[in-house]
Amino acid sequence: MRTLYLIFCCFFAAHSLTSSTSTSPSSRPRCLHEQSSILLQFKREFPLKEPEDLLNDYDYPKMETWKAEKDCCSWDGIECDTTGHVIGLDLSNSSLEGPLHSNSSLFSLTHLENLNLAYNPKFSGRLSDSSASNLKSLNVLDLNSCNFSGIVPTSIGNLSQLTYLDLSSNNFSGEVPTSLGRLTKLEHLSLQKNRLIGRIPSWLGNLTGLTLLQLSHNNFNGEFPISLANLTQLDSLYLSFNQLVGSIPYEYANRISNSMLLSMLDLSHNSFNGTIPPSLFRIPSLVSLNLDYNQFTGPLTIQNVSSSQLTALYLRRNNLNGQIPASISELTSLTELYLSLNNFSGEIELGAFSNLISLDLSYNSLTITSTSTMFALAVNFYSLLLASCNIKEFPKFLETQNELWELDLSHNKLEGKIPKWFFRVGTESLARLDLSSNLITGWEQEPSILPWEALAYLDLRHNKFRGSLFVPPFSTVHFFIFNNSLTGNVDPIFCELHNLKVLDVSNNNLSGEIPRCLGSNSSLLMLNLQRNNFHGEIPPTCEERSVLKTLDLSHNQLQGKIPKSLVTCKELEVLNIGHNQISDRFPFWTQSLPKLQILVLRSNKFDGPIWHPREFSGFENLRMIDLSFNNFGGVLPSEYFRNWSAINTEIPYVNKSKLRYMGDTSNYYQDSVTVAYKGLDTVLVKILTTFMSIDLSHNSFHGAIPSSIGDLKSLVGLNLSGNNFGGSIPTSLGKLSELESLDLSKNNLSGKIPYELVSLTFLQHLNLSDNKLVGPIPHGKQFDTFENSSFGGNLDLCGFPLAKKCTESDDEQPNSDHGQDSESENGFGWKAALVGYGCGIVIGLVVEHVLVSRRPTWFSGIYRRISLTP
Ligand SMILES: *[C@@H]1O[C@H](CO)[C@@H](O)[C@H](O)[C@H]1NC(C)=O
Ligand SMILES: *[C@@H]1O[C@H](CO)[C@@H](O)[C@H](O)[C@H]1NC(C)=O
Ligand SMILES: *[C@@H]1O[C@H](CO)[C@@H](O)[C@H](O)[C@H]1NC(C)=O
Ligand SMILES: *[C@@H]1O[C@H](CO)[C@@H](O)[C@H](O)[C@H]1NC(C)=O
Ligand SMILES: *[C@@H]1O[C@H](CO)[C@@H](O)[C@H](O)[C@H]1NC(C)=O
Ligand SMILES: *[C@@H]1O[C@H](CO)[C@@H](O)[C@H](O)[C@H]1NC(C)=O
Ligand SMILES: *[C@@H]1O[C@H](CO)[C@@H](O)[C@H](O)[C@H]1NC(C)=O
Ligand SMILES: *[C@@H]1O[C@H](CO)[C@@H](O)[C@H](O)[C@H]1NC(C)=O
Ligand SMILES: *[C@@H]1O[C@H](CO)[C@@H](O)[C@H](O)[C@H]1NC(C)=O
Ligand SMILES: *[C@@H]1O[C@H](CO)[C@@H](O)[C@H](O)[C@H]1NC(C)=O
Ligand SMILES: *[C@@H]1O[C@H](CO)[C@@H](O)[C@H](O)[C@H]1NC(C)=O
Repeated sequence: MRTLYLIFCCFFAAHSLTSSTSTSPSSRPRCLHEQSSILLQFKREFPLKEPEDLLNDYDYPKMETWKAEKDCCSWDGIECDTTGHVIGLDLSNSSLEGPLHSNSSLFSLTHLENLNLAYNPKFSGRLSDSSASNLKSLNVLDLNSCNFSGIVPTSIGNLSQLTYLDLSSNNFSGEVPTSLGRLTKLEHLSLQKNRLIGRIPSWLGNLTGLTLLQLSHNNFNGEFPISLANLTQLDSLYLSFNQLVGSIPYEYANRISNSMLLSMLDLSHNSFNGTIPPSLFRIPSLVSLNLDYNQFTGPLTIQNVSSSQLTALYLRRNNLNGQIPASISELTSLTELYLSLNNFSGEIELGAFSNLISLDLSYNSLTITSTSTMFALAVNFYSLLLASCNIKEFPKFLETQNELWELDLSHNKLEGKIPKWFFRVGTESLARLDLSSNLITGWEQEPSILPWEALAYLDLRHNKFRGSLFVPPFSTVHFFIFNNSLTGNVDPIFCELHNLKVLDVSNNNLSGEIPRCLGSNSSLLMLNLQRNNFHGEIPPTCEERSVLKTLDLSHNQLQGKIPKSLVTCKELEVLNIGHNQISDRFPFWTQSLPKLQILVLRSNKFDGPIWHPREFSGFENLRMIDLSFNNFGGVLPSEYFRNWSAINTEIPYVNKSKLRYMGDTSNYYQDSVTVAYKGLDTVLVKILTTFMSIDLSHNSFHGAIPSSIGDLKSLVGLNLSGNNFGGSIPTSLGKLSELESLDLSKNNLSGKIPYELVSLTFLQHLNLSDNKLVGPIPHGKQFDTFENSSFGGNLDLCGFPLAKKCTESDDEQPNSDHGQDSESENGFGWKAALVGYGCGIVIGLVVEHVLVSRRPTWFSGIYRRISLTP
């Protein structure tokens, strides 16, 4: 029997071998000539690609192999049926470029069943009704990550054989055509990342074969369609990042609560409200439930969940309150729980979460009770986020956590020294440690170098660290320890942290000289030593391949000159050496830093001219310059501001609404700088990339104000006060349509105030006091809101708001004694307790000076430039 079987096998194998060699030429489909010419025609519609034109490593231009002399059924990306018709065309990742026209020969391939053009991000065009409906046999249409635009054509509804339709990551707009409701064979429908609008169509409930429905990242609005409960085959439903409102109908939740197929439900980043239907937690097949970033309210009800397989539950940033139900531990498969940014309250014993590997309880009203040593947790956490949980002591159970990757204990009440055992927390695994905003004073056992081998991100800002600056592990990429009380020198070993990109030790009491080698650490993106007591000279900075973007040495006691080596910092965007004792001439070479946007030399001992006929040509990218409180002098020619391209360029309206801050794109740091703005020293905690200002105040400039100042179209703040500028106020100032703050006080300006200034409709702060101006104060628009203090101490101004009435002959009669003391009036200002104006507000300006508010327009001005981000 056994032999027989073997013989049979051998015979069968031999037979299939011979038959496959002998019959293959005939059974293998041969391409029909007509099909071949359609394909070659299609190939001609696109320019040939050189290998270096390929968009990325995945790309492979399959059409290169399409040669007339070969059978087209053997070409790359082509599949034929037995009759020699092309039924499959796969040109995904082929760097296709340019438009697909409606007359393209592609639409003549009427036997096509499978058309895959995905991942050709420069492949554009529109799908027209007539062309799309030619492909009646299509089963699969995949246009993922192309660049098609326009509406989704109605005729797609005529492709009645479609089972797989992916139009995601294109630029389709408008509503989803109703005709798609006829595609009852659809199993996979992905329309995410387009610009689709309207409600989520309720007829989607007709497509009962769907296993995946992906509609995320569009502009859908309206309520959750209950008809989706009819999609009983659904495995994954994604509706995230839309503008959906209302509650999740309990009826929907109840009907799907028996589903044995639905494993992924993502409704995050919408505006859903009401309570979360408890039956969502009972769906036996559900593995991941994401309701992050909505407005769900009320306590969380979790009951009868014994058959749940839920492993990941995301409920961040909602309005959930009450206690976290103990029954959450009945979700026995749960390994990831994210509850941050709600208002859960009560005491929490972490032992209740002993199944989890990721737990996020940050920013609620919770109190983590003393975490007894008894529970050396059976589980090893991977991510533990316990910010703002009223934690008073270092949780001892952490000691045995040796797989921890991420630990956030920030914004708690940890005080005193970090215990010795804490070094054992994830010594080999910890990559991100955040202990910021506590009351920590130091280490029980002062380390020479911190022991965590894998640490990349270390945040210790806003604590009470005293003593000397310890050295983070060599793996560190971001190190923040600003706003502490550290003293002593910076150890030169910092220069050997070759992964370090961001070093922020600002706001401490560090002293001594800045280690010379620090300037040549070629990994640094940002070096912030602001507000310490460093003295000595600025070390030579930037090696040849420097990536340094931000250098902030302000508010120290640095002396000497600015090192010329800085000219090699080709990536430098922010150079702030304000508030030191640098004695130098104006660094004309800063003009050759192609990316420089912010230059602050304020309050030093600079002198000499800032203009030179051969050395000065203008700043290409500069948008904020502060040279105030130095001894710069000389005359500025009328052309002085002509080539300041960045400030000269009007910012397109669209970019204005897209508020961006300076800093690294990962949001790990943001540049901040102090500017005199609207009469106050203001710390711009986050610098909007649209903020443009020039401050030359308190120097010794003389001559006329350059008329080219009117070219600075995007200027928001201009301060020339405390100089000896003479002549009249240039009428070109009236062209600065973005100007919010203008200070020309304490100069020798004479003549009348140009009426053109009335057209500065955003102007909120004006100071022309202490000059020799005469004549009537213009009125209308913003000028009707300024007070006496804006005009005091001039020779002979008249009219509102001053008491002196204008007469015909007024401007001819000098009269300097109308008694306005501008100094005393200058005391207005702002108490800007803006921080924490609700979670949603990102503060663009935090004002240092705490004064009493008098001028409500100030706020509106700020809000014009502050983002309200979710
Ligand atoms: C196509 O490119 C995308 C990214 O551009 C990549 O994720 C995908 O794996 C590539 N597909 C193939 C088949 O190479
Ligand atoms: C196809 O249409 C495009 C644009 O409408 C046109 O430029 C091109 O000549 C047409 N090609 C053929 C073969 O008709
Ligand atoms: C996508 O198409 C638009 C025109 O609809 C074009 O402006 C844009 O440059 C294209 N994008 C790419 C990456 O080719
Ligand atoms: C699509 O099908 C409908 C109804 O079957 C028909 O009336 C219409 O003409 C078709 N559209 C196209 C573009 O073929
Ligand atoms: C999307 O299409 C619109 C016009 O419909 C166009 O203005 C916009 O630039 C396109 N966006 C991209 C990213 O191609
Ligand atoms: C959905 O199905 C219902 C009933 O089967 C039918 O009346 C309706 O026309 C369908 N909707 C669409 C858009 O096809
Ligand atoms: C959903 O299915 C139920 C029963 O199968 C049917 O009565 C109802 O009309 C369907 N609803 C929608 C919106 O398709
Ligand atoms: C939910 O939001 C809608 C508006 O989108 C509102 O009409 C409704 O009252 C809200 N419901 C709850 C329970 O807050
Ligand atoms: C939970 O289960 C119990 C018993 O199995 C049952 O009495 C109760 O009604 C269920 N509760 C809910 C909300 O389904
Ligand atoms: C959070 O809940 C507490 C009670 O637990 C309540 O006093 C407080 O007002 C709530 N806060 C918010 C923002 O809802
Ligand atoms: C410094 O940290 C303390 C908390 O330690 C905080 O209250 C204060 O606002 C911080 N100061 C700055 C300037 O951030």
